[in-house]
Amino acid sequence: MRVGVVGAGYVGLVAAAGLALGGHQTVIAEANPSRLARLRERRAPFLEPGLDEWLRRAGERLSVVSSVREMGPRDAIMIAVGTPSGVSGQGDLTQVRQAVEEVVRTAAPGTVIVMKSTVPPGTGRELVRQYVAPARRGLAYVSNPEFLREGKALHDWLHPDRIVVGAEEAWAAERVAELYRGIDAPVLRTDITSAEMIKYAANALLATKISFINEIANLCELVGAHIDDVATGVGMDPRLGPHFLQAGIGYGGSCFPKDTRALYFTAAVNGYAFELLRAVIEVNRRQRIRVVHRLNTLLGGLAERSVAVLGLAFKPGTDDTRESPGLEIARTLAGYGAKVQVYDPAAVLPDSGGPPGSPVVLSPGLVRVASLEDAVRSAQAVVVATEWPEFVEADWERLYRLMAAPRVVFDGRNCLDAARLAAMGFRYVGVGRRV
Ligand code: UGA
Repeated sequence: MRVGVVGAGYVGLVAAAGLALGGHQTVIAEANPSRLARLRERRAPFLEPGLDEWLRRAGERLSVVSSVREMGPRDAIMIAVGTPSGVSGQGDLTQVRQAVEEVVRTAAPGTVIVMKSTVPPGTGRELVRQYVAPARRGLAYVSNPEFLREGKALHDWLHPDRIVVGAEEAWAAERVAELYRGIDAPVLRTDITSAEMIKYAANALLATKISFINEIANLCELVGAHIDDVATGVGMDPRLGPHFLQAGIGYGGSCFPKDTRALYFTAAVNGYAFELLRAVIEVNRRQRIRVVHRLNTLLGGLAERSVAVLGLAFKPGTDDTRESPGLEIARTLAGYGAKVQVYDPAAVLPDSGGPPGSPVVLSPGLVRVASLEDAVRSAQAVVVATEWPEFVEADWERLYRLMAAPRVVFDGRNCLDAARLAAMGFRYVGVGRRV
């Protein structure tokens, strides 16, 4: 098939490369000039393991243009543009609207518009009413949400748990299912609004599991239980499952924070107060504040204290710092007067390019350094905010010698060997862990 993809973010670019490798003639439209330049060199504009290789292998079957107009006739056009949070937490659909409007204006009759961007339930129906139906060009609109994870995007593209196709017309649904020929996954056919809701419900439920286990971990601290064993025991029940029960400083990233807020907002504008989701969001916010509170107590104040924050990417295997717990904790500590040194092996910060080769002052009291050693040197406390292998496998005896008393290690991801660190003399603090 001839496929177009609008937007070369995580979802768009992985989809475009995957579709091209799946045998479709694919063209991707990206308006951002620096992203476009990278793509023309067959390099992904962000870190995603294996994606550069996919882009090269896609060869002639994947071409790059700067606008929808240049795509030429397509059987299906996927929209995968950004949907950032608006001021009240609602999804900002400006880019989605622009893309749909442009596709409707320029696409050949019979093109299927495939919505990959995460849009709040009810949006598709509204877009059809506003743009697609009035055009009277035989265009169809299909909701086809994406469930891939950053850092594991290629695996998730090839082995999805399900392919959700929300459509009103059978022919359009069949065409979208055909895009995934060769991928072995069940296809769930439904209507547009239900498909949109599946995406939000899935992310909200995953976020709920995380906030729930974080509350259990907090309670473990109070009653003297051990969250690692508790989560293992809970997860052994197949009805609950072992996944997303890793306690810590909470979820970040471009999806869970934004999508939980947007679903809460969607409920609110429909006259429904989604109290459980409000609590999930609040617990996640509080998990980050708890770190600051604990350090404040353990260090006898924060002003002039020297703290290292390890990990700015919202999780390992990505350079993405959107809604990063580590970055927020570092900023908060610096705001209270602490001298904060942050280190991350890959994180890209919006204004400072990639990982630095020399120290970069991010804001007063907040310095990004170029190595783990530089971050912990003279630090009285270390916060592990992302479970990068470099931190888990570090020579902590050496780090102990570089640090200054009282040598607190706040393991915000419960990823270190608590007993070993405590035996070395660190003041080890995990989330819901007994030492
Ligand atoms: C998430 C979903 O897992 C994907 O299915 C979905 O497609 C994607 O959002 C999206 O909507 O685009 P992603 O944000 O890449 O994927 O990352 P996850 O691996 O789900 O992790 C999200 C956050 O939760 C991370 O900060 C991670 O550290 C945290 N987390 C995860 C926990 O704190 N505990 C856990 O047990 C699991």
